[in-house]
Amino acid sequence: MLVFSASDKGGTGRSVTSCNVAYWLSMKGQKVAYLDFDFGSPTAGGTFEISRIDNGVRDNTGLHAYLLDENGTPARLSVRSETDRTELSRSRHPSGRLVLFPGDLGGSEFTKLDPQMIERCTNLFVTCEQEFDVTFVDLSAGRSIALALALAATKQVQLSRAVCRWLIFHRWTRQHIAAARGLVHDDHGVLDTGEAWGHDRIELLNTLRFVRTAVPEVNVTAGLRPAQAAWLQEQHNTLTRAANRHGMGESGILGKIPVEPMLQCREQVILDVDVAAHVANAETVAAFRELAEKLTNNAVWEQVEVRR
Ligand SMILES: Nc1ncnc2c1ncn2[C@@H]1O[C@H](COP(=O)(O)OP(=O)(O)O)[C@@H](O)[C@H]1O
Ligand SMILES: [Mg+2]
Repeated sequence: MLVFSASDKGGTGRSVTSCNVAYWLSMKGQKVAYLDFDFGSPTAGGTFEISRIDNGVRDNTGLHAYLLDENGTPARLSVRSETDRTELSRSRHPSGRLVLFPGDLGGSEFTKLDPQMIERCTNLFVTCEQEFDVTFVDLSAGRSIALALALAATKQVQLSRAVCRWLIFHRWTRQHIAAARGLVHDDHGVLDTGEAWGHDRIELLNTLRFVRTAVPEVNVTAGLRPAQAAWLQEQHNTLTRAANRHGMGESGILGKIPVEPMLQCREQVILDVDVAAHVANAETVAAFRELAEKLTNNAVWEQVEVRR
């Protein structure tokens, strides 16, 4: 299965959530690949706490260089062998794997898409499909060439049988909801671009679900003045109505990740030891695990309706 993580804005929690979901899938025994297709800002290495590739590899062996034909085979690293975090390296399922295909430090967003790039990208996805149960592709924000590349590659005949799922990440604010809706439905968005590369609009829409990140708990009023609590509740109601209107309400979302204090100051995978130490909230890990389950359980995935 190929999972494309997309968002209109940067800073939505797309990468951190995807890394955590990838980790939890590997903890269920799945073989998981993580492709850093955020070419201008490839920070998945940092999130997996592999400090020497915090912002991508330095030797031109990453995905940016691979797509430009500057290396024949892109670098791949076992997260558990390479991470600096001992607890992460030890926290494993006997048959699970988590492999990072990093980006390049000093890479940049692509400005054009050529047939050779599409071919190389297709070959990479085919290889991943053969070797892994789930492949995450963390795409650059917005209407990027990375997005078009993913849509072009998945329409190639070699991938005609691959299961593709799209996750659109957004924060729980007015602008983020509008932006995520726009990324899917507006001009040059996912559906427009997909159609231009031969996808059927409705079929493509059916492969797409929204994920809300860093959602504040509105019922918790501790520490808030009554006026603040009332105002927040009113805003939350307005956001809920907007999301429902755009097919991003309870029926269109695959998951909700609560605000997690740990992630507010550091991008990382949250482990059971962090919850046991009372540093991370158990609800956050539960939300990541639930998202991993919903993403890979066909019956649950299908239950989430998408509005046309
Ligand atoms: N559930 C969450 N609660 C609090 N902060 C979060 C949460 N998810 C992500 N963050 C933080 O938000 C910032 C942006 O997240 P990131 O995954 O880098 O976004 P993107 O990939 O969309 O640009 C990071 O500092 C990250 O740690
Ligand atoms: Mg990111």
